[in-house]
Amino acid sequence: MHDKRPIIIDCDPGHDDAIALLMAFACDRLDIRLVTTVGGNQTPDKTINNALKVLSYANIEVEVAAGASKPLMRDLITAPEVHGESGLEGPALPPPTLKRSTRNAITAMADVIGKSKEKVTIISTGPLTNTATLLLTHPDTAYKIERISLMGGSCIGGNWTPAAEFNILVDPEAAGIVFDSGIPITMCGLDVTHKAQIYKDEIEKVRNIDNKVAKMVAELLDYFELFHKKFGFEGSPMHDPCAVAYIINPDLFTTEAYHVDIETQGEFTTGATVADMRHVLGKEKNVDVALDIDREAFIRLLIECMMYYG
Ligand code: RIB
Ligand code: CA
Repeated sequence: MHDKRPIIIDCDPGHDDAIALLMAFACDRLDIRLVTTVGGNQTPDKTINNALKVLSYANIEVEVAAGASKPLMRDLITAPEVHGESGLEGPALPPPTLKRSTRNAITAMADVIGKSKEKVTIISTGPLTNTATLLLTHPDTAYKIERISLMGGSCIGGNWTPAAEFNILVDPEAAGIVFDSGIPITMCGLDVTHKAQIYKDEIEKVRNIDNKVAKMVAELLDYFELFHKKFGFEGSPMHDPCAVAYIINPDLFTTEAYHVDIETQGEFTTGATVADMRHVLGKEKNVDVALDIDREAFIRLLIECMMYYG
């Protein structure tokens, strides 16, 4: 029996974050020791409340700790256009029964990593402020982080500016610290998440699963679809679930190792993940960039995970 893989999930729920959380907790090979939250899709007070509500609704018991109140050096930008004023518009979720941790995310992350016998994997589905702050304040934790599987970045242009994907744009300085850390990184950027779309008929399959969590997820997807339809998507990109699915089954993905830098100065390009795809600089290839996915198998995995809550 393989030991379960120690995991910390850092997120900014957010519709796709919520689905990513539920996928992760449905996988019996993952030992999720901590959930941390950050401002991004909505303000920090809303993202932690959303995490608590989703986890409570699914009867999941885990420490949930709120992290940074703002990016390292910039004002917070949020995405109410995508996720609504609450950050989780759509389903009417009851107030959470799970209480937020009395520790802040950084203290909790350092403690969980420090006390773990094995290296810990971080799955990050929001801006990277918490992980960067952890590395700045507890540098030794870097040696005990197995891999960071993150949703963020893009080699095909941005979704919040022409150059930048939202999670990286919110805190490019934090992203630079993480990408330069030497920790193995899998970047699930728009290159792959735009291929990982869920379509209407598949949302109905989720809705028809006979448990309340799956039906709630279908309502999340209904709302999430509204924004993406406006922008001409046929389906809804399952951004954050990709970062979880990579850890559950990396064989679903095609990745290439590139040297990736984060632009923090450009007037038009700040927040861009600059991937040296032709290796012209000859620098260390610090990131495994996900470029393709077996979409059908990914959606089957998502649906299977939602059946777990029956
Ligand atoms: O660009 C998509 C990313 O930004 C996703 O993580 C979504 O939840 C938002 O945080
Ligand atoms: Ca997110």
